[in-house]
Amino acid sequence: MHKIAVLPGDGIGPEVMEQAVRVLDSIAEKYSQTFEYSFSEVGGIAIDKFSTPLPEKTLKICEDSDAILFGSVGGPKWENLPPEKQPERGALLPLRKHFKLFANLRPIKVFKPLSQACSLKEEFFEEGIDIAIFRELTGGIYFGEPKYVSEDGTHAVDTMKYSKDEVIRIAKLAFEAARIRGKKVMSVDKANVLMSSVLWRKVVTKLRDEQYPDIELSHMYVDNAAMQLVRNPSQFDVILTGNMFGDILSDEAAMLTGSLGMLPSASLNEEGFGLYEPIGGTAPDIAGQNIANPTAQILSAALMLRYSFGMDEAATDIECAIEKTLAEGYRTGDIFYGKDSEKRVSTTEFADAILEKL
Ligand code: NAD
Ligand code: IPM
Ligand code: MN
Repeated sequence: MHKIAVLPGDGIGPEVMEQAVRVLDSIAEKYSQTFEYSFSEVGGIAIDKFSTPLPEKTLKICEDSDAILFGSVGGPKWENLPPEKQPERGALLPLRKHFKLFANLRPIKVFKPLSQACSLKEEFFEEGIDIAIFRELTGGIYFGEPKYVSEDGTHAVDTMKYSKDEVIRIAKLAFEAARIRGKKVMSVDKANVLMSSVLWRKVVTKLRDEQYPDIELSHMYVDNAAMQLVRNPSQFDVILTGNMFGDILSDEAAMLTGSLGMLPSASLNEEGFGLYEPIGGTAPDIAGQNIANPTAQILSAALMLRYSFGMDEAATDIECAIEKTLAEGYRTGDIFYGKDSEKRVSTTEFADAILEKL
């Protein structure tokens, strides 16, 4: 039996989460497993109901679970609250910190039937796109202190800070992953300007020299990396980077796969406990219409099966069902280009097509 804290959140969160749970139900039956779901409020919906984005009860449910399946939080309705009370700063970031989820894995993989949905012409990625982004998630400028807006409102401060140990633990995971992939790590930083990046580069290089001599390590400045991702994405195998750069580069990389609605993520701590969520947000522009792409949420559930429950075969099963669904031409609006071979479908219909294949 696996206990899952299910936190749909706001915007499209509940719509895509419903589909992910249907897929999990089907997997439970097929693989004779039991998933016990504890649904709980987080983000804006929790503010509306309980006046706090991360109620004690929600945190307790997460603590008592084997994994957290997270939707997304935030939206225009809560944007004018004091910063610390908003869904993102008041719930998502504290959850990441509370569970020490320092490693955010964002796999960027193009499903073959979607290669034409990539924002690039096919000749730019003839060698394929299969990138694993390792984003440090509990440090850097997101969490460094001091952090404030001055009382008179004349200035504000964020602090970009990294310790040697924080760099080592995320870098190790990136090198380990590279060992079973293409044996290449690209560390992305801004060492020509930021002192935290000077340390980052030094620590990563030393770790490679001492423990991973079999891995080819290169370094790239983040501005160049943003450009290289659209110039020649096939050059990347594992990308290792800090919190903010990883956030930005992964949204950019999402368009290589056709849509932000395609990409899942796993956020893990040192004990292997994980929170699984789409890399994108609550998509307020399309929320409530049953048109969002549920793939990122469903793939996040697949990552949960793989990393938290050791159910690799079931995870692969889901990934194959999605590939087949795309091959048959099913497309939600974000990946629909009007070709004869494509069928434009709703969130629910897309999930129906996946479920048929499981
Ligand atoms: P967003 O990721 O919500 O949306 C960006 C664009 O991508 C929109 O056009 C949206 O329609 C599209 N998109 C995203 N997911 C999609 C899907 N599954 N299917 C189809 N299209 C999809 O980013 P934003 O508009 O900058 O942010 C909206 C809110 O979400 C903000 O409050 C932001 O803070 C929050 N957010 C939350 C998370 C999270 O909870 N993990 C992540 C990112 C943004
Ligand atoms: C993400 C999101 C979050 C981040 C926000 C909502 C705090 O953009 O998970 O990519 O910046 O980490
Ligand atoms: Mn982001």
